[in-house]
Amino acid sequence: MSSSMAFPPLILLLILLSPSPSLSSDPDPLQDFGIADLQSASSINGFPCKAAPNVTSEDFFFSGLARGGNTNNTFGSSVVQGNVLSFPGLNTLGISMNRVDIAPGGINPPHLHPRATESGVVVRGKLLVGMITSGNVFYSKNLTEGEMFVIPRGLVHFQMNVGNESALILTAFNSHLPGAVVIPFTLFGSRPSVPDEVLTKAFQVDKSVVDGIKSNFGG
Ligand SMILES: *[C@@H]1O[C@H](CO)[C@@H](O)[C@H](O)[C@H]1NC(C)=O
Ligand SMILES: *[C@@H]1O[C@H](CO)[C@@H](O)[C@H](O)[C@H]1NC(C)=O
Ligand SMILES: *[C@@H]1O[C@H](CO)[C@@H](O)[C@H](O)[C@H]1NC(C)=O
Ligand SMILES: *[C@@H]1O[C@H](CO)[C@@H](O)[C@H](O)[C@H]1NC(C)=O
Repeated sequence: MSSSMAFPPLILLLILLSPSPSLSSDPDPLQDFGIADLQSASSINGFPCKAAPNVTSEDFFFSGLARGGNTNNTFGSSVVQGNVLSFPGLNTLGISMNRVDIAPGGINPPHLHPRATESGVVVRGKLLVGMITSGNVFYSKNLTEGEMFVIPRGLVHFQMNVGNESALILTAFNSHLPGAVVIPFTLFGSRPSVPDEVLTKAFQVDKSVVDGIKSNFGG
């Protein structure tokens, strides 16, 4: 049987003409590079590119991940982002990296990246890495130095330092701007804040509980 019988011409045509599904997170670039012009007044899906004659070596390097942020905070963790906003050379290339520092006992709280799958390598320390699927199955593992993990796009996940030393993870994303939805802040620290009636119903708790949590996150 020929393939044109299995897929009648009209259907084949429709398949060919339909927009291609998003197989990778960011679309492929249309040129070698396009150093983001973050000051540009016009807005597109991504950033306009710096004029080629103005591109320098510096545009392809970023030292922002050399040092960790301050982990002396509520969560005992800090994330330094190497995305298109801090490193414009990533514009349109579909990748980015973060540096995550976590103090002993600290946590990078449950969050998700709406636009990217994440992979990470533990550079130092001992961490519990966990994620929850859309079917509410929890997967987790304790990782140490040199070990790697992957978090499928959009799934809620966290990393917790279960060791005695400060932990360091380098994470990579298949998006130049993966975005982060940090669950506690999203639900309890938004501006304006989500109405108490919504959260008491959603979590099946009293208003005092909701207000208590909100007060922890400036909501
Ligand atoms: C290069 O940058 C300078 C200074 O920002 C600007 O005046 C000039 O127009 C730029 N060159 C091009 C080709 O855009
Ligand atoms: C951590 O922060 C608190 C309050 O912001 C401060 O009192 C404390 O000295 C800091 N600790 C260190 C080790 O910096
Ligand atoms: C991770 O290690 C802790 C002890 O540090 C243990 O209680 C826990 O069960 C371990 N979790 C996994 C998923 O192996
Ligand atoms: C942390 O240090 C304590 C005391 O030195 C030790 O008993 C424990 O096993 C250490 N825990 C880890 C995860 O290394």
